[in-house]
Amino acid sequence: MKLKFKIVKDNQASLRERCELVPTPIEDKYIDFVNDMHDYLVMSQDEKLSEKYHLREGVGLAAPQVGHNIRALVVYYTDYDADGHEIIIDHRLINPKIISESVKLSYLKAGEGCLSVDNPHEGYVYRKYKIQVKAFDCKTKKDTIITARGYEAIVLQHELDHLDGILFYDHIDKKDPFKKLDNSVGF
Ligand code: NI
Repeated sequence: MKLKFKIVKDNQASLRERCELVPTPIEDKYIDFVNDMHDYLVMSQDEKLSEKYHLREGVGLAAPQVGHNIRALVVYYTDYDADGHEIIIDHRLINPKIISESVKLSYLKAGEGCLSVDNPHEGYVYRKYKIQVKAFDCKTKKDTIITARGYEAIVLQHELDHLDGILFYDHIDKKDPFKKLDNSVGF
């Protein structure tokens, strides 16, 4: 794997733009690009490679963070199911769109982070607990509908926000950053 990307930071205006839809039918060059973003995340989670290339570990990445303002994102991390079996969460999506969402909210107790944000921003970021996302799936090269809950839904919403120029700290209540909302669950 080669290091192809330089991460766009939050002091750059391009990170605040609304990204363009990828034209359909989806050309292979876009699929290749999304797979490269996936490889970058995998590399960032590898101890030796991340050290060699000075990468911060990430679980999600959106196209504008690597300098392409198109609607594409990846999510990749290891999780465990109720029986303790390892499961890999691996989304490589083009033109993702939320088609349904829960009323119930969720948030990360430790707050969110972002590869594009170097300064700490403390406070809760409330997200929908459950979402359904329609997208073109670069793994199967077909349209798909993903149902995500909890942490997976939080990561997806964080990346989806990037496609509209929104950063996680935009959601933090400036006057009361750790305000507890009813109907929300923390992870
Ligand atoms: Ni981010």
